[in-house]
Amino acid sequence: MSDRSLPLIPRDRAAHPPAYDPDYKTSVARAPRQALISMDSTPTEEHGPRFGHDLLGPLDNDLVLNWTKGAAPALGERILVHGRVRDETGRPVPGTLVEIWQANAGGRYRHAKDGYLAPLDPNFGGCGRTITDDRGDYQFLTIRPGAYPWPNRGNEWRPAHIHVSIFGSGFGQRLITQMYFEGDPLIAHCPIAATVRDRGQLEALVAPLDMAMAKPMDFLAYRFDIVLRGRRQTMFENRPEGL
Ligand SMILES: [Fe+2]
Repeated sequence: MSDRSLPLIPRDRAAHPPAYDPDYKTSVARAPRQALISMDSTPTEEHGPRFGHDLLGPLDNDLVLNWTKGAAPALGERILVHGRVRDETGRPVPGTLVEIWQANAGGRYRHAKDGYLAPLDPNFGGCGRTITDDRGDYQFLTIRPGAYPWPNRGNEWRPAHIHVSIFGSGFGQRLITQMYFEGDPLIAHCPIAATVRDRGQLEALVAPLDMAMAKPMDFLAYRFDIVLRGRRQTMFENRPEGL
């Protein structure tokens, strides 16, 4: 993903959420207890195996239809989520794999360990993927996810959110973040969102309603732009893996 002719702008690791945050209970057990050590990346991490761009199907970025392969639409509020992936200099990043996963309209994941009361939607899987185009743009048609409760300090609810993964040019390059929705009052109560200490950086994870891209009588739209690093970088919840 990087252009070696340009100077490298290092990721501002101090700006990312801390690994250890007592208000986010599961972070306590998984946070490193000793100083991190630096390891060189391996050829496998830098060069492969990597995703084959020809493996995408026509419905892969359509979560309304992809679980049933087009046979029946998922239940819920239809939305378009779109945006542009840019590098540290503001240039678009074309040809990069963007993946999302999310709960259904009721706030339930299609996952063996999700026991929330809300039912599964037989027509909704909750995963999608796409490749950015020549302008670095991506889009998904999906269902607005519901809020869901999770065990943390007691009465805790995640704001509606979509998990987003960006793959780079090698197997070891993957960044993961979460997109929230403009106007959601639960964002201010969420201990996971609160791990992003800087208000401006948290606000960059909140996708604004984009009426210009909404389709009348069909779907609303939200815009979520992603900046890989530099001063305007999107907050990622993981560190680069390997590289
Ligand atoms: Fe989630």
